[in-house]
Amino acid sequence: MQIFYNIAAYKAWHAKLKSKHASIGFVATMGALHQGHLSLIASANQENECSVCSIYVNPTQFNDSGDYEKYPRILDDDIAALEKQNCDVLFAPESGEMYPANEEEAPRSKLNLGVLAEVMEGEFRPGHFDGVVTIVEKLFRIIQPQRAYFGEKDYQQLAVIRKMNQEFGLPIEIIGCPTIRENDGLAMSSRNLLLSSAERTEASAIYRLLVKSKEQLKNLEVQQIKQRLIDDINRFETLDVEYIEIADAQTLKPIDSWDSAESAVCCVAVLSGNVRLIDNIMLYN
Ligand code: PAF
Repeated sequence: MQIFYNIAAYKAWHAKLKSKHASIGFVATMGALHQGHLSLIASANQENECSVCSIYVNPTQFNDSGDYEKYPRILDDDIAALEKQNCDVLFAPESGEMYPANEEEAPRSKLNLGVLAEVMEGEFRPGHFDGVVTIVEKLFRIIQPQRAYFGEKDYQQLAVIRKMNQEFGLPIEIIGCPTIRENDGLAMSSRNLLLSSAERTEASAIYRLLVKSKEQLKNLEVQQIKQRLIDDINRFETLDVEYIEIADAQTLKPIDSWDSAESAVCCVAVLSGNVRLIDNIMLYN
């Protein structure tokens, strides 16, 4: 695997690749890689001549500096995992590369994301998606992939990136890939590394209860499903619901009756101690 720590070195490599007309499948990450990321690399390898992974913990998408500081950083382990997965290229830039000016003052994307940025993560993490769009646009313009792979665990992020790609008219196919789960159902996430053993055990209830909600659809109204899910999750000592939303799976507009949307997704954010976990389930489509 080739590793580039700066943009100029990546661009020199890319110029040579371009002359061979080889396609790039891109996986953007913040590191602390797990099987979810590696499954994205596997898809990138399968569908393209070349796979490129980026590792960069993007400061502008964290609205809590403590969260940014404690985000796991294990570059050596990540490199070993990528080598094993036959990833062709790692782009792991320094902060000064991505934000040459002081990142606090760096201009953020002013893309109007409409309702996508107002609900759920947009409401509870103000400015988060401006930071995501800012960095993903920069990465897309540097890496110049034909296809980019994102996990469906971050359902709203995937919708935001699709919208950004469309609005900026970028020639990239955005591919959503299924959430990869631990044996007990917990969605794989870099943040799982930060859970204590008691928190880790109880965190598996989140997906179990999402599945239970889906099974109850026919008998309950939207509000009832949401309230039961909140109560059921909050019953666990280490879990505290931040939000539960049932939304149109296309527009992400919250719904209050089943017949108001052709497809619906239930998204949750739950605090497990200080660790914020998100997950979702497609209710119907
Ligand atoms: O999903 C993530 O890990 C990040 O939000 C992303 C897409 C790499 C942008 O920093």
